Amino acid sequence: MFRSILVTGGAGFIGSNFVLHWLAGKNGSLVNLDKLTYAGNPQNLTSVASGPAYSFVRGDICDRSLIDALLQQHRPDAIVHFAAESHVDRSILGPEAFLETNIRGTFVLLQAAREYYAKLQGEDKQSFRFLHVSTDEVYGTLAPESPAFHEGTPYAPNSPYAASKAASDHLVRAWVHTYGLPAIITNCSNNYGPYQFPEKLLPLMITHALAGRPLPVYGDGQQVRDWLYVLDHCRALQRVLESGRVGETYNVGGGNQRSNLQVVNLLCSLLDELLPGSPYKPHAQLIRMVEDRPGHDRRYAIDARKLEQELGWHAEETFETGLRKTVEWYLANADWVEGVTSGAYQQWMQENYAVRGAR
Ligand code: NAD
Ligand code: TYD
Repeated sequence: MFRSILVTGGAGFIGSNFVLHWLAGKNGSLVNLDKLTYAGNPQNLTSVASGPAYSFVRGDICDRSLIDALLQQHRPDAIVHFAAESHVDRSILGPEAFLETNIRGTFVLLQAAREYYAKLQGEDKQSFRFLHVSTDEVYGTLAPESPAFHEGTPYAPNSPYAASKAASDHLVRAWVHTYGLPAIITNCSNNYGPYQFPEKLLPLMITHALAGRPLPVYGDGQQVRDWLYVLDHCRALQRVLESGRVGETYNVGGGNQRSNLQVVNLLCSLLDELLPGSPYKPHAQLIRMVEDRPGHDRRYAIDARKLEQELGWHAEETFETGLRKTVEWYLANADWVEGVTSGAYQQWMQENYAVRGAR
């Protein structure tokens, strides 16, 4: 259905999984524009890198002339926008890059897309889409008994990351209403799966547990997240791209609400089972309660009924099946972990954790 698409941030966690999923489905050609920050890793894509349907461009979404040139050269019929600074803890210690990439970068991309779209004609104009990949964190935090976030939940972002994503969502919305850009927004809950950088909860806990290092749980560990296996997210994005309604928002979530302590304990039991000879068994003994994240949102939960009922999407993985696949992937890909945890990663560990005392 799509001849060619431009993906931004396709060397990151969700972007890589999306690129691999898209190309495996023989969906047409794909150009991946990525700045390769600490979170981007072209090695995630070596299996498709030499194929005729894939091209990679290292560059910044804030670079308007580069984006104009890519649009002219590749004439994509959709832009799928993943590129962002994505880690809440980093946004607390250094918010500026979040404003630059998430807000200004999205603005630059929207302006370029708008000008490109204005010159399209006929079927090309009819079918063009701008898909903005966003987060449930724009809705803020939920009390324990509150209903899950739906598409009409008012925005109330609490972290610099969430505020920057909320701002980018508002820009996309305004570009639809003011300029008629055929954009769609998705707001998804916490993803997990292969290729996730080990600064986020699950890969951090997996890599620490394998090395017998402490598993740092923030605060009381009772914060709740709604976990979605990354390939289920990718399948949702494809459905939205193909059949979503322009100007709409679709919430994406797995219906898997767990507290952080439940998640870490489940992970530890899985590791005990998969690594019966591990010297660190039982892995739960490595858990350490540490100082909380400032402004830590208590609970996220997604109501995905609109996506399910309108577009027929359903999550295929339960948390148990998805977690097993994820842990097996990390066990089988020690080289990948080794490659991304050297150098600058060690510095981040020092900055974020060394200052965090025990509770
Ligand atoms: P990630 O941090 O793993 O990857 C981000 C990618 O964007 C990296 O490859 C990085 O090099 C690239 N990038 C950063 N700044 C750039 C710039 N200025 N120009 C070009 N490329 C740039 O992030 P992720 O977890 O894969 O998230 C992807 C998108 O999905 C983000 O927009 C995020 O807000 C959203 N999202 C993530 C989750 C989650 O659980 N990870 C959940 C919902 C929504
Ligand atoms: P994270 O993966 O950073 O995603 P987000 O903040 O976007 O939800 O964190 C998920 C949850 O895990 C969040 O409540 C913070 C918590 N957490 C820890 O308890 N310890 C850690 O070392 C990390 C990285 C996160």
